[in-house]
Amino acid sequence: MYVCLCTGVTDGQIRDAIYEGCCSYKEVRQATGVASQCGKCACLAKEVVRETLTKLQSAQSAIPYSVEFTAA
Ligand code: FES
Repeated sequence: MYVCLCTGVTDGQIRDAIYEGCCSYKEVRQATGVASQCGKCACLAKEVVRETLTKLQSAQSAIPYSVEFTAA
């Protein structure tokens, strides 16, 4: 589903950005451009980020490497 209509960012793209290394809403915003225009989607975008990070943290013990690296 579309989270940001201004930039056409979907919840899937936000999740991908996190799986690719973004560790915060700020990093996701920089990587995807979400909420960079009117800003109306910021709440929803933050929610998707928070939800995904929480899921990732609970699954992290199964990941054999650190997810702490900077996204391009
Ligand atoms: S809907 Fe995301 S910046 Fe406007």
